[in-house]
Amino acid sequence: MTDPISTATLTVWGGEEASLVQGATQVPVVYSAAFGYPDVDAWLDVALGRQPGHIYSRNTNPTVHAFEEKVRLLEGAAAATSFASGMAAISNTLFTLLSPGDRIVSVKDTYGGTNKIFTEFLPRLRVEVELCDTSDHAQIEAAIAQGCRVVYLETPTNPTLKILDIKRLAAAGHAAGAVVVTDNTFATPINQNPLQLGADLVIHSATKFLGGHADALGGAVCGDRDLVGRIYHYREITGAMLDPMAAFLLLRGMKTLHLRVRQQNENALRIARWLQAQPAVASVYYPGLETHLHHDVARRQMAGFGGVLSFMLEGGFEAVKRVLPRLRFAHRAANLGAVETIVGTPATTSHVECTAAERAAMGIPEGLVRYSAGIEDAGDLIADLAQALVAA
Ligand SMILES: Cc1ncc(COP(=O)(O)O)c(C=O)c1O
Repeated sequence: MTDPISTATLTVWGGEEASLVQGATQVPVVYSAAFGYPDVDAWLDVALGRQPGHIYSRNTNPTVHAFEEKVRLLEGAAAATSFASGMAAISNTLFTLLSPGDRIVSVKDTYGGTNKIFTEFLPRLRVEVELCDTSDHAQIEAAIAQGCRVVYLETPTNPTLKILDIKRLAAAGHAAGAVVVTDNTFATPINQNPLQLGADLVIHSATKFLGGHADALGGAVCGDRDLVGRIYHYREITGAMLDPMAAFLLLRGMKTLHLRVRQQNENALRIARWLQAQPAVASVYYPGLETHLHHDVARRQMAGFGGVLSFMLEGGFEAVKRVLPRLRFAHRAANLGAVETIVGTPATTSHVECTAAERAAMGIPEGLVRYSAGIEDAGDLIADLAQALVAA
């Protein structure tokens, strides 16, 4: 299937054809470590990539292939490869692209695990990491202009929902000869397509919105054949492949991606507007609000503002501890992007790997609540928040 098929149709049908067998209407879970070839010439053709097929499931697998194809089509990419988790996708990408002596430019408030790669693992490989103020595009451009191998973006950011101008920073990255990578987990391909905005690679934690049911971990990287081929090669050798059962669950979840994300966009915007008017709430972070610092950029590059918002309570962390247990329609868990609403604080979820001082340096207040709106009725979610906020 190729363009211009609409996104809604691609989420349902995209990428599955080659993996359907014996008339099955659903992609099977193929649990086979290896694939046999009685004919040695045919085996060699597949092994050398002259014919399509599978050799060994650390490299490729029919169920995993269908998942990769669906993500690839939704991101409008030439190639895609998959991983055991979002962090495997991020680390394998960075370890493929960077060598000792290289420099990478990113921002201070990427996802906590990504930040750990920047602050703990890359310096160990003698990669110079420059983390800029996420709200200051001029500072990021200046850092990129000094020269770098990789520009690494994440937008909206986790958990303060800052927005980076992908088009502007991709242009700066390309002028410096860098590969521009964007983590699109929060936006999803329904709301934002970084490759169309100039990024070279787009990364997903499929664990979140792509799967959407909080029952499987996975990751994906999409881009041109050469770059993705290099990352695939790193992964096939080092082994962080996606499990076929997880690929099956993610594929099934993705069939409703467009419907879920549409509802989550609507719910999050309504809830963000409502929270803004509550006396117990000190501030609300959501790119769909006109008061957001980069609302204009979000309007330009996003079709919807996403299902995640965050807010600060006037009473700080003590108030958070009183309010969260009262919520009836929200899991208190370290996750987001599922059909059920999920709340958490960065100190216990996305940035649990960081010290309080590191979180403060990244501009993450300890009293922040991250709220991932599910697909429930927005009125019910607001009523639930209202009764919980009484304890603030
Ligand atoms: C923006 C973002 N990127 C990457 C990840 C890592 O994904 P995973 O948990 O699948 O490794 C997360 C996890 O929360 C995330 O929020």
